[in-house]
Amino acid sequence: MASRIISVVNQKGGVGKTTTAVNLASSLANKIDVLLVDLDPQGNATSGLGFDKANIASGSYQLLAGQVNLTDAALKTRQARLTLVPATSDLAGAEVELVNQPAREFKLKSALASASQPLIIIDCPPSLGLLTLNALAASTSLIIPVQSEYYALEGLGQLLNTVQQVRGGLNPNLELLGVVLTMYDRRNSLAEQVKAEVENYFGDKLFKTVVPRNVRLAEAPGFGATVFEHDKFSKGARAYKSLAKEVASRL
Ligand SMILES: Nc1ncnc2c1ncn2[C@@H]1O[C@H](COP(=O)(O)OP(=O)(O)O)[C@@H](O)[C@H]1O
Ligand SMILES: [Mg+2]
Repeated sequence: MASRIISVVNQKGGVGKTTTAVNLASSLANKIDVLLVDLDPQGNATSGLGFDKANIASGSYQLLAGQVNLTDAALKTRQARLTLVPATSDLAGAEVELVNQPAREFKLKSALASASQPLIIIDCPPSLGLLTLNALAASTSLIIPVQSEYYALEGLGQLLNTVQQVRGGLNPNLELLGVVLTMYDRRNSLAEQVKAEVENYFGDKLFKTVVPRNVRLAEAPGFGATVFEHDKFSKGARAYKSLAKEVASRL
């Protein structure tokens, strides 16, 4: 059983969840075995690691539906210690299909119980629906990526409310591991102000590492590559390496 399961969550789209999940998983997989679970029907973590969603027989959907076990849903990646449970297109129907099932919020937790990896990272969809609830119910920790923009804190109240509710019921042990500022642009005069605001709100839960806006991070998924494979000397790669160190020390 994995000793730590981290969900990367924010119901806003485009804030850097997938970029964080993929590159954090890859960096941590230099030292330990990591299982990355793509729980977003868009499948960006899957394609970002070079897999074609259309040609994958089973993944997180089949796992949630109880059609396959974890071994059959997992794919080896180019990186020896990084394993992926991909997203397939049928995941889009999962929210609706799960609704009437018993223990509908615990499907992922049960499916992941047999994982041999000590660390699992879950890339969540941009919603607070049943898929995200499955992720939160299965997790020991969560990481919230926050985009450095004017409305950065908007929607976070709702997210933290959901987390509070999950703690009160589905998963009393869920902890906020940290909040990471993404797409930080020094040249934008607002950025420093947004950072101060997020710091003020989250205190020492805010990771010291700030992920800069970096074109290498945006390019990498197009090559089906992590930022380390694409350009390991880029600012983006260095940021995610530094974030991985912080995450490892908080675990
Ligand atoms: N630090 C960054 N610098 C530049 N582009 C980024 C950065 N982080 C993410 N992106 C790009 O922004 C878009 C949204 O990021 P993504 O990680 O997919 O967000 P989410 O999973 O929250 O929807 C993607 O095209 C991604 O490549
Ligand atoms: Mg995503």
